[in-house]
Amino acid sequence: MSSVLTIRGGVPLTGRVSVRGAKNLVPKAMVAALLGNEPSVLRNVPEIKDVEVVTSLLQLHGVTVVKDPLSGDLTLDPKAAKTAPSTAIDAHAGDSRIPILLCGPLIHAIGEAFIPDLGGCKIGDRPIDYHLNVLRQFGAVVEKRPGGIHISAPKGLHGAKINLPYPSVGATEQVLLSATRAEGITELSGAATEPEIIDLIAVLQKMGAIISVQTDRTIRIEGVRDLGGYNHRALSDRNESASWASAALVTRGDIFVEGASQRDMMTFLNTYRKVGGGMDIGEDGIRFYHRGGKLNPLVLETDVHPGFMTDWQQPLVVALTQADGVSIVHETVYENRFGFTDALIRMGASIQVHRECLGSVPCRFGQRNFLHSAVISGPTQLKGADIDVPDLRGGFSHLIAALAASGTSRVTGIDIINRGYERFTEKLSGLGADFDITSTK
Ligand code: EPZ
Repeated sequence: MSSVLTIRGGVPLTGRVSVRGAKNLVPKAMVAALLGNEPSVLRNVPEIKDVEVVTSLLQLHGVTVVKDPLSGDLTLDPKAAKTAPSTAIDAHAGDSRIPILLCGPLIHAIGEAFIPDLGGCKIGDRPIDYHLNVLRQFGAVVEKRPGGIHISAPKGLHGAKINLPYPSVGATEQVLLSATRAEGITELSGAATEPEIIDLIAVLQKMGAIISVQTDRTIRIEGVRDLGGYNHRALSDRNESASWASAALVTRGDIFVEGASQRDMMTFLNTYRKVGGGMDIGEDGIRFYHRGGKLNPLVLETDVHPGFMTDWQQPLVVALTQADGVSIVHETVYENRFGFTDALIRMGASIQVHRECLGSVPCRFGQRNFLHSAVISGPTQLKGADIDVPDLRGGFSHLIAALAASGTSRVTGIDIINRGYERFTEKLSGLGADFDITSTK
């Protein structure tokens, strides 16, 4: 069963939305519970597909996951962790990239892991070579098998001196989740230090892990034999908050995002202000609004933290189609993250994508045939169109473009958006969006 949204555009989004725990932390904190020998409690958990997928995967391994019907808080008890028949895990193949992070905890818990071929958004080929190299350096044996990868460590995992070729968030998480109970010291240089990484370190520290983040992006972990449980409130989702902020600009609206955290969005807020967006930063959230005048074009380059987050660029590109002049976006984290612009061009946007690095520094993708720079000319009048959602953030961008466009748009494939945006159709209704949802077979 899938749903189709019929959107009648031209209505400014105004009102209040509440943003809860970060999609890019909560599933990882759930996996971390498997490392403990006591139950853990995770709070501020959003109702999103990625949480459902990881809940199923953990239950397959004997972890009990109980959700509080009122608060949504999760209690995870790893006591009965056991190996799952690999066929059962296959049922979840293609849903998410999180399964790869089960390797370390499963090896510590039961000595082996079978990880299905991975899913996740189609924004590049999303390799896992860093993950597998890290596991090998910890002493694991990695074997490709039909439908996935079998990983084992007969002698357990031992600490290692690891250098990441790129500050990969996932690979950093792989190290954290494997090293905390490995024998000896692990030193990770070239680590990712995103807010979600720091929050995962906070979770592990609560369990008894000894982890320090040094000034040169090196993370040092002293392995311990046992870990306890944690009680943790997940940080809020800065990507969802930034998405609603862009929606306010695109639709000339005014949205209070309850839960938006200035600390985690500093770079985004600077960019938002430079584009000409209005904001009131409060203790319980941030009000984002269109100030009525022109929007300013800008030159933007995505980067790892504390740079401009790659997940923020797609919704903001829609706002740049309304800016008065030429903007340039150089995407340096993923090689293929401008596919969503095809639909915007069909709606009337003026966007060209290029192979060159159109930014201050050449990135890994220069001269490798990847269309990873975009030139956006505005303002352009967007017209409604039929759209099929390509991925999570691109899909949200299509929604806000359709909400701003004149005329009607028919948007299919919106179930992908449930992966990372909690109750987004209810939130759109609450903001005054004019649309119908119909379910198709
Ligand atoms: C996480 O993905 C997030 N997803 C992404 O958010 C986010 O965009 C990304 O980090 C960067 O911040 C989750 O946390 C679930 P990476 P991840 O490893 O860990 C390359 C969203 O919309 N790479 O930091 O998969 C990779 O191809 C999603 O919420 C390798 O080459 O990202 C990419 O070019 C989208 N080999 C770069 O590193 C590897 O083994 C960054 O990837 C791993 C990664």
